[in-house]
Amino acid sequence: LVIIIEMWLSALSNNSLLILFEGGAIDLKLINGSNPCAGRAMIKIGELSLILCSTVSPMKHAAVACRHLGCGSSVSVHSSAHFGEDSTPYLVVGDVCHGSESTIWDCRFETQTIKSTCSHPFIAGVTCSGKKSPRLVGGDNPCSGRVEIRHGETWATLCDAHFDIKAASVICNELECGRALSTPGGAHFGEGHGLIWTEELQCVGNESHLAYCPRISHVNQTCSHANDASAICSRLQLVNGSTVCSGRVEIKVRDAWGTVCDSHWDLSDANVLCHQLNCGFAVSAPGGGYFGKGTGFVWTDTFHCKGTEPHLGLCPVTALGASPCSHDNDASVICSDKCSRNAGLMTPAPQWSRRIRLANGPGRCAGRVEIYYNGTWGTVCDDSWDLPDSNVVCNQLGCGHAIDATVSAHYGQGSGQIRLDDVNCSGNESDLWDCPSGGWDQHNCRHKEDAGVLCSEFTDLRLVSDSDCAGRLEVFYNGTWGSVCHSPMDAATRALICKHLDCGDSGILEKDFTYGIGSGPTWVDGIRCDKQHGSLWECPSDPWNQQSCNRGQETHISCEGQEKLRIMGGNRCSGRVEVWYRGSWGTVCDDFWDMADANVVCKQLGCGSAVSAPGEAAFGKGTGPIWVEKVNCRGTESSLWDCPAMPWGESNCDHKEDAAVNCSGDYPTPPSDRQWESHGACCHLHYPGSPSLSAVNHSGCAGAEGQGTAQRWVLIVSLSEMSLQ
Ligand SMILES: *[C@@H]1O[C@H](CO)[C@@H](O)[C@H](O)[C@H]1NC(C)=O
Ligand SMILES: *[C@@H]1O[C@H](CO)[C@@H](O)[C@H](O)[C@H]1NC(C)=O
Ligand SMILES: *[C@@H]1O[C@H](CO)[C@@H](O)[C@H](O)[C@H]1NC(C)=O
Repeated sequence: LVIIIEMWLSALSNNSLLILFEGGAIDLKLINGSNPCAGRAMIKIGELSLILCSTVSPMKHAAVACRHLGCGSSVSVHSSAHFGEDSTPYLVVGDVCHGSESTIWDCRFETQTIKSTCSHPFIAGVTCSGKKSPRLVGGDNPCSGRVEIRHGETWATLCDAHFDIKAASVICNELECGRALSTPGGAHFGEGHGLIWTEELQCVGNESHLAYCPRISHVNQTCSHANDASAICSRLQLVNGSTVCSGRVEIKVRDAWGTVCDSHWDLSDANVLCHQLNCGFAVSAPGGGYFGKGTGFVWTDTFHCKGTEPHLGLCPVTALGASPCSHDNDASVICSDKCSRNAGLMTPAPQWSRRIRLANGPGRCAGRVEIYYNGTWGTVCDDSWDLPDSNVVCNQLGCGHAIDATVSAHYGQGSGQIRLDDVNCSGNESDLWDCPSGGWDQHNCRHKEDAGVLCSEFTDLRLVSDSDCAGRLEVFYNGTWGSVCHSPMDAATRALICKHLDCGDSGILEKDFTYGIGSGPTWVDGIRCDKQHGSLWECPSDPWNQQSCNRGQETHISCEGQEKLRIMGGNRCSGRVEVWYRGSWGTVCDDFWDMADANVVCKQLGCGSAVSAPGEAAFGKGTGPIWVEKVNCRGTESSLWDCPAMPWGESNCDHKEDAAVNCSGDYPTPPSDRQWESHGACCHLHYPGSPSLSAVNHSGCAGAEGQGTAQRWVLIVSLSEMSLQ
């Protein structure tokens, strides 16, 4: 092969590769990655395969490759070994890509060399932000709809005759939508526009991407948009029922199927599920493993569906404080029928003619009692309103038990009809309207007598202190304020807490218990939020427990303190570490300062990983306070503030001990044994260890040492016999 390439190359003049590219018999693909939008960039020119090895502006080059492939625009780049190497030769290009070109062929390749290696610091691997996925259009959730495949800049539909459940399985899997339930044809989700794909997909069903399924061409097909194919996928399935529309509820999370805990599973949640599965409306929502016990995990997050949401993903969820659940409590559903896809909303079950809610309160589980009856919402009068009545309401709403039965429009006056008066529940009724009362719309009340409730599942959050955005954190649960324990309380969790309290978007744990100790329960520990969570209540944690931790482990948090970090005395990614604390910039002492600590700083600054962790004021002495010493990171923390250290603000160090970092930066740094050589306006850089490698920039050598990152330099590879430059 090498000989063939050499002969082939010897016939080329300076730009003939470009001419060949423009000839059209060429192809670009990303190979060896986990999906078609990541991998080594392989160019095929006729029979010849070459891996692109980028030497100049690799980010721009990669961005163009991603756009070219319909894989989104932003990228990360990798060394040639990242996706594994084989014997395919490299096309080493010093291209001029502006980054805005729409295809790779629009880049001007200034130098071209064919080599057997693409060595550091060159880039041959790309991961694009986007996915070259099919999409499902026209359904009411992202996991069902008309199948469309990307074709260049546009989308094409598929003919239903050329599409089957195996191809649908691949799509469902690729879209992380769980399992393929059906493939309705005949433009079930409406007709598409534009191109109709002329190939038949012959998937086995276990391919990881549709792009990997074999295809056969049907050039003379007689398909129109009236035959557009669709797929219905779901991360939810019903198991062991007598029809596909009843059974044990199973849910797919990442790669595993598990069941749903029945503790808060109700008819509203079940109705949303029936609709989502194309199964009409919910007839009942039995728990207790009615359709047998499942295996795998048990999902304990609570859905709070109203019943009319198009899919479960749109129902609010709480996870905080959930108790473990066993397969004895597996939830099930019996849906009305496998009817048309609109059945869930068009033919509501009789249950939907009466509903209950708590209005104008501080949360879902506290507020004015309102009942939906005869098509409108109305209120309940407080005559003889008491805890047993309120218990029925709390229970009915999945809000636990009643803490307080409020009277005299405690949660404000409602409007409309007053539906019930003289309610006299025993407390065991399942719906408020089953309790003895004066009858529908029979009353002698005004809205200033509107009844309300506060239920045990109502939760709230506050800071105990004299200031607004710092203090001891307390959570309200089961009718009592109690503490929140401080493990692990990482940056993402603190951020959600501060946002919830309207106190900015980051917080610092105060380790010196400035705000005293609490006296109530210590309600919850082990809260683990991450970026996907929209509120603190969605974050998983240990179960609610009156004694979750000791007094010394309560959370004291200061939200106004932003976690700000900067690098001084060097360049963007190397220099003295400075931190913002209690309103001013200060430094970090180098006691125990090591690579793990420097790694956390480099990552937090978006500067790659640490190359070294110099101490002793290597980048000059700072001024101001020395905020922290004996920092002892593991290296995996996302913020320096998450690392164990001596209490902040108590350091006894001197500025001659200021800590610093040298980070790898966005690009690999050139080898350190480089030599500069000035030729007029040009500066040449040589690597004595690698004679074939050199670099040039056109603005002279002044200041070159300080800014010697690869992106500013045109790197030149001269493989003596093969250079095309
Ligand atoms: C199916 O449900 C029945 C009870 O209805 C139960 O006895 C049986 O074990 C279940 N089978 C599976 C596979 O879950
Ligand atoms: C409420 O019901 C109880 C029986 O459950 C009865 O003894 C009581 O008199 C009733 N109260 C009113 C005000 O109707
Ligand atoms: C909530 O309070 C009730 C009494 O009102 C008590 O029985 C129950 O155990 C409490 N729950 C928790 C988790 O502390």
